[in-house]
Amino acid sequence: MKTVVITGVTRGLGRAMAEEFIRLGHVVLGCGRSEQGLGELRRRFGKWHEFDRVDVASDEQVQAWAKRLLKSRGAPDLVLNNAGVINRNAPLWKVSSEEFGRVIDVNIKGVANVIRHFVPVMTERGSGVVVNFSSGWGRSTDAEVAPYCATKWAIEGLTQALAQELPARVAAVALNPGVINTDMLQSCFGGSASAYPSAEQWARKAVPFLLELGPRHNGQSLTVS
Ligand SMILES: NC(=O)c1ccc[n+]([C@@H]2O[C@H](COP(=O)([O-])OP(=O)(O)OC[C@H]3O[C@@H](n4cnc5c(N)ncnc54)[C@H](OP(=O)(O)O)[C@@H]3O)[C@@H](O)[C@H]2O)c1
Repeated sequence: MKTVVITGVTRGLGRAMAEEFIRLGHVVLGCGRSEQGLGELRRRFGKWHEFDRVDVASDEQVQAWAKRLLKSRGAPDLVLNNAGVINRNAPLWKVSSEEFGRVIDVNIKGVANVIRHFVPVMTERGSGVVVNFSSGWGRSTDAEVAPYCATKWAIEGLTQALAQELPARVAAVALNPGVINTDMLQSCFGGSASAYPSAEQWARKAVPFLLELGPRHNGQSLTVS
C-alpha cells in the first residue's frame, strides 16, 4: 500500500487518479480549490483519505498542508504534481499580464512549492518518486497556448535539474499524460475534445504505470501511452 499525494484532485485527471488509487487499496492525500469537488471526495472516501483546500500557487498554504500531512501520515511514496491551468486560446500578445502570471504561478511555482515542502522528508527517508505533469506541449508547441507551453517546457527542465540533485533512491520524472477529454482539453480543443478518452479510462492504465515508477526512472521524460 502506497501513500500518494495528488494536487488537483477535484476534477479531470487528478480526480480519476485519486479514485483509481483508492480502488486499488492505496491511500490518497489530495488537494484542490473547489469546495464542491473536495466535499464530494470527503463524503465518499473521507475516512482513510484526506482532501484539503489548498491553492498550490500559495507557498504558505502548501507549507501548512505538507506540515500537517507529514506529521500525521509520514513521508509519501508518490507525489503527483498534477494541478494545472491553461490560458484561454489566444496569441501571446493578447494574453493579459494577469492571466500569464496565473499560468506561471500554478504550473511552475505551484510545482516548486510542493517539491519544497514534501521532498526534504522523502530524501531523509531515502525513497519516493515525484511526478511532475508535463504535456505534449512540454515537448512541442502550438499557436494560442504559448503561456501553457512555456510552463510545460519549464517543467521538463526543472525536473531534469531536480533529478540531478536528488539522492539515490529518490526519483523525479516529467510525465506527459497523453490527450484526455477533461475541462482543460475542452478549453483548448473545443468540441473535438470529445473524441479523446475520458479521465476514468485513462486512469485505468495510468495508475498501474505510476505505481511501477522507481529510482531507475530518475530524470526521465515519460509518456502514458
Ligand atoms: N487533459 C489533457 O489532455 C492533458 C494533456 C497534457 C497535460 N495535461 C496536464 O495534466 C494535468 C491535469 O490536467 P486536467 O486535464 O485534469 O485539467 P483540469 O480538468 O482542468 O483539472 C485541473 C485540476 O487542477 C486543479 N487546480 C487548478 N489550479 C489549482 C491550484 N492553484 N491549486 C490547486 N489545484 C488546482 C483543479 O481544481 P480546482 O479548480 O478545484 O482547484 C482541477 O482539479 C495538468 O497539469 C495538465 O497540464 C493534461
